[in-house]
Amino acid sequence: MMENFVVSARKYRPADFKSVVGQEHITTTLKNAIKNNHLAQAFLFCGPRGVGKTTCARILAKTINCENRQDDQEACGECESCVSFKNNSSFNIYELDAASNNSVDDIRNLVDQVRYAPQKGQYKVYIIDEVHMLSNQAFNAFLKTLEEPPKYAIFILATTEKHKIIPTILSRCQIFDFNRIQIDHISNHLKYIAEKESVDFEEEALRLIATKADGALRDALSIFDLIVTYSAGKKVTYHETIDNLHILDYDYYFKVVDALIEEDLSKVLLIFDEILKKGFDGHNFIVGLSEHFRDLLVAKDPATVELIQVSENAKQRYLQQTEAASTSFLLSALNIANQCDIHYKTAKNQRLHVELALMKMSKLPQAFKLANLAAEEAKKKA
Ligand SMILES: Nc1ncnc2c1ncn2[C@@H]1O[C@H](COP(=O)(O)OP(=O)(O)O)[C@@H](O)[C@H]1O
Ligand SMILES: [Mg+2]
Ligand SMILES: [Zn+2]
Repeated sequence: MMENFVVSARKYRPADFKSVVGQEHITTTLKNAIKNNHLAQAFLFCGPRGVGKTTCARILAKTINCENRQDDQEACGECESCVSFKNNSSFNIYELDAASNNSVDDIRNLVDQVRYAPQKGQYKVYIIDEVHMLSNQAFNAFLKTLEEPPKYAIFILATTEKHKIIPTILSRCQIFDFNRIQIDHISNHLKYIAEKESVDFEEEALRLIATKADGALRDALSIFDLIVTYSAGKKVTYHETIDNLHILDYDYYFKVVDALIEEDLSKVLLIFDEILKKGFDGHNFIVGLSEHFRDLLVAKDPATVELIQVSENAKQRYLQQTEAASTSFLLSALNIANQCDIHYKTAKNQRLHVELALMKMSKLPQAFKLANLAAEEAKKKA
């Protein structure tokens, strides 16, 4: 397997609408437009990097040129046109990366191209990536073509920065907003690829990669490739993954909270010391701890437990730990962690700043016990 491992992002670029992950609102609309012959001539695809904009543009180009389109509005994948798309040899698709080709001349070239009708197939599709990077002059040179395009021309403009697109362009395009892709969807997709590539894995590891990718499927695939390469043909494990990505094992958060509940301040401080010695940053730690408190709070109620985005396995640990902690403790601790986070950058001694927060947290259980006692006493007297 390892010898011929190729970059997953390229190998697994979806070839049809139904393989695009997490953008159903877009693929369904496009398929309906094809079906009803209501295709716009200019589209604006907006959204973060690596979520399928270029992919969808290429699928659209391939599908509307397919000689044998299927009933579900997918390309057949086998006709002459589909094959030329697959081999990147179709003359009916033209891609311009405006990030590096943003001069008036580049656009004039494109506009010249648009004059020629396709020799084969029905449509010519022009994709202009990062269209917000076009110079003003280039924009103007393009505007007329965008306003009165020949019937066979379809423009797909893509951008990661919608706010930079001028109103003249916005008003002439059908706008599609691409989503960040959810952790669940990304990890399922990684699972699918790992199985196809016969790569062994722990689900926890894939989930971590999915989290790290922050909604971008392409990033998830490159991280996955990296970890597979490191693991040298062995299993992709959670531990390997946190090591390679330099992520703090969430086990530490469980340990810290256990020690806080036990009011064992020394243990808490020693764990924090260990974390710093491993080269982790105090600020990341306190942010991670805040998230951990949040997850514990969310795990308190069966109605919200689904809001913690972790594997089944990890969920059980949250459920256990939250049993052992009171809601008031978790809320107050979260509050202290949050204050620590807010003031971290201005603290002179940042280590002490975090330690102080941990000290306060470790006194919470006792404070709540005393408060409860006092309340009971008051009740007895009344
Ligand atoms: N929604 C998605 N479904 C499946 N794969 C995706 C998706 N988005 C991105 N990818 C993967 O990432 C690669 C790059 O995606 P691309 O469409 O070029 O992203 P964008 O144009 O939005 O930056 C694709 O080849 C594919 O492997
Ligand atoms: Mg792109
Ligand atoms: Zn076809």
